[in-house]
Amino acid sequence: MPQGPTESQTRKEGTAIHQRGDKSSLPRPALPAISVIVPTYREAENLPFLIDRLSDLRRNRNMDLELLIMDDDSGDGTRELIAGLGEAWIKLFTRTTDRGLSRAVCDGLKHARGDVIVVMDADLSHPPECIPALVEALTSGHDFAIGSRYVEGGSTSDDWGFFRWMNSKVATLLAMPFTSVRDPMSGFFALRRSAYEQAAERLNPIGYKIGLELIVKCECERIKEIPFHFCDRNAGESKLTFAEQARYLRHIRRLFIHKYGAWSNLVHFLAVGGLGSIVNLGILTLLIALGFGIKVSIGAAIAISMVFNFALNRRFTFSGARKGSLVKQFFGYVGACSLGGLLNYFVTSEVTSKFPAVYPQVAALAGIIAGVSVNFLVNQFAVFKSDASDTTSNAEEAAV
Ligand code: GDD
Ligand code: MN
Repeated sequence: MPQGPTESQTRKEGTAIHQRGDKSSLPRPALPAISVIVPTYREAENLPFLIDRLSDLRRNRNMDLELLIMDDDSGDGTRELIAGLGEAWIKLFTRTTDRGLSRAVCDGLKHARGDVIVVMDADLSHPPECIPALVEALTSGHDFAIGSRYVEGGSTSDDWGFFRWMNSKVATLLAMPFTSVRDPMSGFFALRRSAYEQAAERLNPIGYKIGLELIVKCECERIKEIPFHFCDRNAGESKLTFAEQARYLRHIRRLFIHKYGAWSNLVHFLAVGGLGSIVNLGILTLLIALGFGIKVSIGAAIAISMVFNFALNRRFTFSGARKGSLVKQFFGYVGACSLGGLLNYFVTSEVTSKFPAVYPQVAALAGIIAGVSVNFLVNQFAVFKSDASDTTSNAEEAAV
């Protein structure tokens, strides 16, 4: 078995976490049975190193550890390599459909037999020597343990380019509504199989953030972050393309719908309303600059922004009801907006006449709140009503 980067990497990570050899004279408690799931695509060059280090770990810690390699039919010698080893604890699954990192991990979760499941990359960015610490976090009462680059003691290789760093930061920021974990993007984590089994039906990841999906869907609250050094991949190239980043946005939207249900619709509705106001002001300014009369400009700006808002709300806010008739929904939407507008007018004028001391702007704000609320409720429960069979997960599925 090749020795390659093993020693140097172990030394680098040594500061963050107890490594093999460390405190080896003390008796260590037995670890539960562990399934290590590794998604792979063209990792034949890296697998021998990973297997070597895992096998050291099994031996040194006397671990009951199985390795599940979930390979998307790489055709790079992975199959021959594993067959050649003939090790019963290493199981290769060659996948030809439903490809992708998260899907491969989900597949692995179904086949895992250990009490504890660990997920990690094949390219040696994630040090196998941290596995005991992840597992011990679970045995000491945590629901989820995650290898973290962003807690004290954690780090990333210096040669991370600006874009990769920035990318990771923005992605982490977007995950903030779901977890307070410092490194929710990490692909190196552990959880109990029983926790996974409770949520198995609800898993619906797209893209590559399977860890975040599991934290949210398994409702993991006691999460321990274990610092580690994220090394640059050993050999080959990252498989994470721009398309994967775009999928992450869709994933975030799905999680949002899952976690906040109808409230997520309200947030979408308000965001679309905000954008619509910008469109309205932009068109108005443009038409006036082009020499159109003020009344025509106001009317056209309202009409255009209304069509714009309708399109966005149909596509995003109420995406679960996209099968309904476009024409009916459009007129329903215009009706709901008009009702909201009338209510706004009514509330504003009532407040100003009944409470003359109140600033007209405050009265207008009350009018806006009343108008928007009715507008939203009519759209949500009448115009874009999903049929009874449309569960949250269908809405998640429809989320683009
Ligand atoms: N089965 C399968 N199918 N595996 C895949 C696929 C796929 O389509 N794409 C990538 N993988 C495997 C790789 O072979 C590797 O073992 C692991 O998933 C991570 O892929 P990389 O290509 O090495 O990703 P990365 O290094 O850019 O991203 C890593 O760091 C991110 C944080 O910065 C991963 O650990 C991510 O999970 C993590 O979020
Ligand atoms: Mn990698």
